[in-house]
Amino acid sequence: MRVKSKFRCQECGQQSTRWLGRCPGCGAWNSLVEEPDQPKTVSPAAINGLLEPCPVTEVPAQEEERFPTRMAEMDRVLGGGLVPGSLILVGGDPGIGKSTLMLQVAHLLSCRMPVLYISGEESARQVRLRAERLGALSPGLLLACETDIDQVERHLRQISPPVAVVDSIQTMFKSDLASAPGSVGQVRECAAQLMRLAKTTGISIFLVGHVTKEGMLAGPRVLEHMVDTVLYLEGDRHQFFRILRGVKNRFGSTNEIGIFEMSGAGLVEVASPSAIFLTKRPKGDVPGTAVAAALEGSRPLLVEIQALVCPTGYGTPRRMTAGVDYNRVALITAVLEKRMGFNLGNQDIYVNAVGGVRLDEPAADLAVACALASSFKDIPVDPGLACAGETGLTGELRPVTGVEKRIRESFKMGFSRFLMSSRSAALSGDDYGLLRADTLAGALEMALLA
Ligand code: TYD
Ligand code: MG
Repeated sequence: MRVKSKFRCQECGQQSTRWLGRCPGCGAWNSLVEEPDQPKTVSPAAINGLLEPCPVTEVPAQEEERFPTRMAEMDRVLGGGLVPGSLILVGGDPGIGKSTLMLQVAHLLSCRMPVLYISGEESARQVRLRAERLGALSPGLLLACETDIDQVERHLRQISPPVAVVDSIQTMFKSDLASAPGSVGQVRECAAQLMRLAKTTGISIFLVGHVTKEGMLAGPRVLEHMVDTVLYLEGDRHQFFRILRGVKNRFGSTNEIGIFEMSGAGLVEVASPSAIFLTKRPKGDVPGTAVAAALEGSRPLLVEIQALVCPTGYGTPRRMTAGVDYNRVALITAVLEKRMGFNLGNQDIYVNAVGGVRLDEPAADLAVACALASSFKDIPVDPGLACAGETGLTGELRPVTGVEKRIRESFKMGFSRFLMSSRSAALSGDDYGLLRADTLAGALEMALLA
């Protein structure tokens, strides 16, 4: 029997029996989303059997038992392993390697427990071929090609595996809803159904979600608030590195990353990322490159920043960045102009973090400034120097968090000098090789070779 559905405006709650381009209630465009007539919700109370308020001290403290996936980078991002009954969204651009990663994780787990892999995108043969290539053939890995969410639920209830993968949420559909698979209504309803299932049966479900080009509508973003954990697989498709980033985690910290390299045999974990990000540094004294000691979660990461400053050929100067924040580069450029007297108004500026990584912490400011100044003046930066510091608007150099970790990693990777703000916390141990500056001007003087 077909359950009736209705359309509801996401802005004001107005209901309609059919889809309308504009909400008659509030006038918002394109805000109506299909929903089943009686949306089912799952309350945490119903699951835990706690129906009356009670003192927090008397809530039974179940130790969250976790089982590790035995893929170290994945476990790090999950916060130590999978929590039973959790729903984990794995998002990313199409073709970035989500299916590959999930198949590898499913394989690792299937050596110890049955795992159900539900593919809505590829045929069973395709998945088998890929599994063969990845060396992920194991009898514990069960495969189903299905896009009807009710059938998926039936399989999950029947087999009841501890872990399942649904690849991808955009291909799943509920036949009660008229809208097409991949639309906001379908995606949300299917995810809600899987959420209820995970919570009531204790099956941990990985949900693969494509980030769509059109502003991420119907993509993983509409699901972020529903699921327990959100992981994004990022990277430049033309580069080999992939970064798995925790964006939300109800069971652990969110600022950990996992680093992988895409190889012919799938994703390979990278245990010492700094070594790899730096291997292809230009040899000799080349102007326009500096090394930033970044911190991703609890992990220090040394990344080369390259800049090219050259006179504008024609018209407005171009400003381009890859891997670093465009607005921060604009700010640093302005500080260099105003406080150091660099004339950059008639220069094109390109800044790039090498290796396809994305640095969004202000601690990379100093390396960006060094690379820019070095390219502008055509003087190389001291090749034995790594740095970390935030630039203030008045040209001061501000301290950054976790400086000790950054320093240790830099010295471990063979750098002999480390440049930072003079207001950085005092360090335990000796100060050998540490350079401190109050201002960006002072720092650049120390960084650039005379
Ligand atoms: P895939 O996992 O299908 O991406 P997604 O599920 O995120 O859309 O990965 C697609 C890309 O990965 C494809 O372009 C080829 C590459 N790849 C490798 O380089 N090595 C491999 O072993 C595999 C399986 C894929
Ligand atoms: Mg895929």
